[in-house]
Amino acid sequence: MKNLDETIVRGATSSTKTKTEQFYDDVITGLRSEQKHLSSKYFYDANGDKLFQDLMNCEEYYPTNCELEIFSEKTAELCQAIIGNGDAFDLIELGAGDATKSTYLLQYLLEQQADFTYLPIDISENVISYLNVTLPVTLPGLQITGLNGEYFDMLEKAASLSNKRKVVLFLGSNIGNLPVSDAEDFCRELGNHLSTGDMLLIGFDLKKNPKTVLAAYNDKGGITKRFNLNLLERINRELNADFDVSKFDHYPIYDPESGACKSYLVSLADQQVKINSTGIIHFLKDECIFMEISQKFTVAQTDHMANKAGFKPIHRFFDSKKWFIDVIWLAE
Ligand code: AVJ
Repeated sequence: MKNLDETIVRGATSSTKTKTEQFYDDVITGLRSEQKHLSSKYFYDANGDKLFQDLMNCEEYYPTNCELEIFSEKTAELCQAIIGNGDAFDLIELGAGDATKSTYLLQYLLEQQADFTYLPIDISENVISYLNVTLPVTLPGLQITGLNGEYFDMLEKAASLSNKRKVVLFLGSNIGNLPVSDAEDFCRELGNHLSTGDMLLIGFDLKKNPKTVLAAYNDKGGITKRFNLNLLERINRELNADFDVSKFDHYPIYDPESGACKSYLVSLADQQVKINSTGIIHFLKDECIFMEISQKFTVAQTDHMANKAGFKPIHRFFDSKKWFIDVIWLAE
C-alpha cells in the first residue's frame, strides 16, 4: 500500500511531523510527480464529509444504498456469522464515519445479548467523539471505545486493550480506493494484525453496467466535481495556497475491463499555483491531476484477494441487484 510504504520510508522523522506538515509533504510530492496526483484520503475534512453525505443522498451514487440494503435486510444472517460460537469478541470498524450501517448490527447484537465491545476507528477526531457520545444514548448498554488515528496504529492499540477474538468491519468499498495490488497488500497487512479465527467483514463494489458506474462518479448535480475541487480548496485553507478552482474541471472515467473508475482534475489554463510561499507548481493547459481510484470487482476477484492476503472467504451477502457484496473472511 502506497501510504503505508511512505510511512515506513519516512521512518523516524514521521513521528515528529505534525498532521499539517505531513499533508504539505504529501501534496508537494504528489504535485511534483511526473503524473501529478493527490491522495483521496485528504478529501474528508469537515467540508468533504458534508459533500460525501450529499453524494450518498444523490440519485446516481448507488453503493451506499446497496450496502445499506444488505445491512438492513440481512442483519440476522450477518450477526449469526459474526457471533460464531458465542465467544466474547471485539467488533472493530475501520473508518466508522457515522456508523449508520454498523448500527443495524450493533442493535441486533445487543438484542441477542452478544458479549462484545464496539471499537470504531476513524482518522477524524470529530467522528470519534460524536460516536462516543451519541451511540451509548441511541444504543443503551453498548460498550464502546472509539479510537482516533490511523488504521494500523489503532488496530495495535485495540490488540493491546484486549485479547478477545477480533471481528473487523471495513465497509463502503473503501478498499476500492487502493489500486488492486495495494489493496492486496493492505489486506495482508490487516491479516498480520489478526489471529487465526478472527474475521474480516469487507464490502466491495461490483462490476456492473459501465454507464451505471460512470454516472455515480459524474452526477448531474455536480456534487462529485465539488467533492474533488474541495481538496484544492482544502489545500488553500490549510496550506496557504492560491488554487483558482474555476480553472479546474472534473474528469471521471470508467474502464469496464480493469474495473478502475478514476477521477482527474483538468487544468483549464497554463497556470502557476503557490503553496505556502515556498512551493510553486506549474500546470500546463489540459494537464491532469489524478485524484482518486474507486475500483470495481468481480466476485471471483474478491475470492482471489482473500486467498492472496491469507484469508478464507466463508460468507457472501448481496443486495437485490447484485451491485455490491459484503463478504466475511476468516483469518488463517
Ligand atoms: C467512500 C471511497 C467508497 O470511492 O465510491 C464517492 C468515495 N468518491 N464519490 C467511492 C467517492 C467519489 C467513495 N468511497
